[in-house]
Amino acid sequence: MAQRKKPEDLRSHRWFGVQDLRAFGHRSRMRQMGYDQEDWEGRPIIGIINTWSDINQCHAHLRSRADDVKAGILQSGGMPIELPAISLSEPIVKPSTMLYRNFLAMETEELLRSHPIDGTVLMGGCDKTTPGLLMGAVSMGIPTIFCPAGPMLRGNWAGKPLGSGSDAWKFWDEKRAGKISEAQWEEIENGIARSFGTCMTMGTAATMMGIAEAMGMTLPGASSMLAADAGHIRMCKQSGRRIVDMVWEDMTPEQIMTPKAIENSIAVHMAMGGSTNAIIHVIAMARRAGIALSLEKFDQIGRDVPVLANVRPSGEYLMEDFFYAGGMPALMSAMGDLLDRDQLTVNGKTLGENIADAKVYNDDVIRGIDTAIYEGGATAVLKGNLAPGGCVIKPSAVEPRLREHRGKAIVFRDYNHMMEEIDREDLDVTADHVMVLQSAGPKGGPGMPEWGMLPIPTKLVEQGVRDMLRVSDGRMSGTSYGACILHVSPESFIGGPLALVQTGDEIEISVEKRSITLCISDQEMSSRKAAWVAPKPHYARGYGRMFQEHIAQAEDGCDFDFLESGPPTPEPEIH
Ligand code: FES
Repeated sequence: MAQRKKPEDLRSHRWFGVQDLRAFGHRSRMRQMGYDQEDWEGRPIIGIINTWSDINQCHAHLRSRADDVKAGILQSGGMPIELPAISLSEPIVKPSTMLYRNFLAMETEELLRSHPIDGTVLMGGCDKTTPGLLMGAVSMGIPTIFCPAGPMLRGNWAGKPLGSGSDAWKFWDEKRAGKISEAQWEEIENGIARSFGTCMTMGTAATMMGIAEAMGMTLPGASSMLAADAGHIRMCKQSGRRIVDMVWEDMTPEQIMTPKAIENSIAVHMAMGGSTNAIIHVIAMARRAGIALSLEKFDQIGRDVPVLANVRPSGEYLMEDFFYAGGMPALMSAMGDLLDRDQLTVNGKTLGENIADAKVYNDDVIRGIDTAIYEGGATAVLKGNLAPGGCVIKPSAVEPRLREHRGKAIVFRDYNHMMEEIDREDLDVTADHVMVLQSAGPKGGPGMPEWGMLPIPTKLVEQGVRDMLRVSDGRMSGTSYGACILHVSPESFIGGPLALVQTGDEIEISVEKRSITLCISDQEMSSRKAAWVAPKPHYARGYGRMFQEHIAQAEDGCDFDFLESGPPTPEPEIH
């Protein structure tokens, strides 16, 4: 360990190491909790930001895993302090966890800033918690390790593996088509999530945990370590041991989250067949690190990186299989020279050193570049008069006939309108229509909910239709699939072109040309724009009001305008 810091250089020294009345107050109140000088003197104080709660199923184990992190910190001579933060359970929080990602980022940053913390271990994994925690810690700039919750075990129903999210959508359509009984549906409800840990498809959680590892912010292999595996306990202890050394070494996120590390994470996102949500989060995380990143970078890297992880929804298997096949180190090893292996990671070694001995144990689950499950990359960025700021599609999860398509629009002005219409037997819709959902964006949703996989109209489901072209300014769950064009920007709620689409207009998309076109004249577009009336904002007070006044559009990462990188925030006054 290259020790660069002395005890008196520690941030916490300003709280406990000085001799004045204020420090007397800090120390006496620590003694009130049973600590004494031995506990803090000359020891880095490590803040464990824990997103455990009684209502976050994916983080159920983090209550006891925090004790494992603490054990590691103590073993290395540090002092652990656990700080709870908002837990953001993806299926429970309404209207959308995305409304609160920035809340978690602010909470993380300010928890670290306002307390005597020298380094931090971040504990999360359910969708928005990974970016929220990392955004906050990067803005704070102290040594940081991300400790991922890890995927749950694969689901099970009638002897068949079930994938969270993906199979819920699939069997819901089968139920709507009358092919699944109520009793079978309840059996699926029992079997689809049967252990703690995050979704075990390549949803947003697995994608973002993998991205954190590819950026260098986790220990090697941490992101694909199953939540229920004893190795997860060991990884938590190792993270605790390592963060203490990182404090002495003064290894901060800015040394790890470099522009090349961000590019590595985008390449890994593509090779994983990762969630489209990651695009928004990676842009936000990069900008917190002071790195300008645009949508175009994703498209550019995506064209060169094939999908190698044969995991649902793009592939066949689940994260449990991915872990047994070698996990994230094996995937990164299979990517060959598509990664910059010289990038530093939290264990003090380079990415290349970390994956030098990684092996693929099942080459059907983790494919080679020559046997990729999809050659063109996981995500494509489209632009055109319907989305001047861009929009995204996941071609690997789309029926091939819909990658180049022109059809008539059927427009739903918001989510409730869509749900009122979707079951109507007389709905004027065919499989070639383009379904359009408005008011699902960052301000319109509000919070950009995961409504982007619009349900196929019931009458078409009954005819056997399972995919249609769908366009919205919302997001979709990483466990979703289908020809869903998402994140259309500018969003309809602020008068973007999506607000001007009318039922019967034609929309044309080409994944090959990366284009999306509303087939009306410029003159017609202008006259509709002139007649457009802005809707009323959703919130008059509170956090929601701050959100709607400061939230950026999707291509800018949906961060608050005042939270992107800028001049350093002053440290708290000593006295
Ligand atoms: Fe937590 Fe899917 S619900 S990761």
